Amino acid sequence: MKKILFAASEAVPFIKTGGLADVIGSLPGYFDSQKYDVRVILPKYACMDGGFAAMLKPITHFDVELGWRRQYAGVLEAKINGIQYYLIDNEYYFAGERPYGEIYQDIEKFAFFSKAVLDTIEKIGFVPDIIHCNDWQTGMIPVFLKNIYQSKESYRAIRTVFSIHNIRFQGRWILEEVRDVTGLPYDVFTPKGIETYGESNYLKGGIVYSDVVTTVSKSYAMEIMTPEGGEGLDGVLRYYSDKLFGILNGLDYKEFNPETDPRIPYHFNKSNIKTIKPKNKEKLQEMVGLPKAPDTFLIGMVSRMSDQKGFDLVSHILDTFLANENVQIAVLGTGEARYENMFRYFADKYPSKLSVHICYSEDMAHLIYAGADAFLMPSLFEPCGLSQLMALRYGTVPIVRETGGLRDTVEPYNKYTQQGYGFSFANYNADEMISIVRSAMGLYYTEKENWQNLMLRGMEQDFSWESSVKEYEQLYDGIC
Ligand code: GLC
Repeated sequence: MKKILFAASEAVPFIKTGGLADVIGSLPGYFDSQKYDVRVILPKYACMDGGFAAMLKPITHFDVELGWRRQYAGVLEAKINGIQYYLIDNEYYFAGERPYGEIYQDIEKFAFFSKAVLDTIEKIGFVPDIIHCNDWQTGMIPVFLKNIYQSKESYRAIRTVFSIHNIRFQGRWILEEVRDVTGLPYDVFTPKGIETYGESNYLKGGIVYSDVVTTVSKSYAMEIMTPEGGEGLDGVLRYYSDKLFGILNGLDYKEFNPETDPRIPYHFNKSNIKTIKPKNKEKLQEMVGLPKAPDTFLIGMVSRMSDQKGFDLVSHILDTFLANENVQIAVLGTGEARYENMFRYFADKYPSKLSVHICYSEDMAHLIYAGADAFLMPSLFEPCGLSQLMALRYGTVPIVRETGGLRDTVEPYNKYTQQGYGFSFANYNADEMISIVRSAMGLYYTEKENWQNLMLRGMEQDFSWESSVKEYEQLYDGIC
């Protein structure tokens, strides 16, 4: 039995700010439990969902040495859906309304978490064969392991996998201060270690010191090795390209299932979608306050409102698009004020066409996936993207830009062969986006049957974890 420990800064159901939490909350449950004992370790944030916090049982506590500091670490455990979770408690680091704060605070917070993870495994007697780290917040685990812990016998055999979910966030901070916080030796802070552009860089630490690096789609693995997509780390990734692998994320098909989803009012499958999906559409229109118009093309968007997600393209065309087209758009999400305000303004101007909810509601999100005709995701870059997979699962046609995981999961419609199950455009350009949205609308309004077949082909695709988890198992088996 191989022992695997996933380390991450967020996971459903405890805490979520983005897709990372969905992945850590679902992937561990898909490994072959005869061969892999997979557990998860997270910080215990004060802002965590109270119901889950109450389920945690304390198991031990100790002090973590962090440079000249000694900081308390409590370890709590819980078993949810068969997965063993450990949570690290420290009220100084993990206080606050959100998991992440200012970068200078987060730098010390996640150096602490990384060392606490390494201390915990020995204290609780679960020394894993592999620690699977995720994103910059856990990038220092391989660095501490190789430079400090592996001088101890019990840590010597541990291997590390480091997964990049978004290369834009790297955890960069002043070299001297990180040296003070971590107490790591000088040569770690050189260009062959965690230094980039005169700063220390936790994500680079994960890349350099881990045994295998993965990212969440094959296209994104290629893109991050180019100057356009590498966010300054493309050279490092090209250097380490022989240990870099792209493995597509899966979707939790148990949670996102139109036949059983408790968050949607009318359940459906491929055979009754034509009659049932319109009922969800009507319910969605009612919930978001749009006119009940069964025949109007309804586009959904559920997204963090950041430039990554393509909102510059949307803001560029929204006014003319809404003024001229017979369309409805339902938007849900929060993020940068400039996008939130842009949406508020146009929702006010076109109340019967645009509905915007600046918040996060899991119920509304699911109803948008189930009730909309199309789902727009024009990302500037997208490591994997999960929303397009959710849309496909509910027979909602994705309209995406061909980047990263969107390119790998959405096969564009071909009217000659009647293949493909989505719409896509190549360049980050608002006119290109809008012309592809218009082709989708054209098909919807004039070729009902072809549109419906397109929806069904989307529903037939399999983006569950089943095949991706086998790729992770192979990687694990290759290093230990
Ligand atoms: C990040 C990426 C997203 C990916 C998710 C999970 O949120 O932006 O594309 O799906 O991580 O890997």
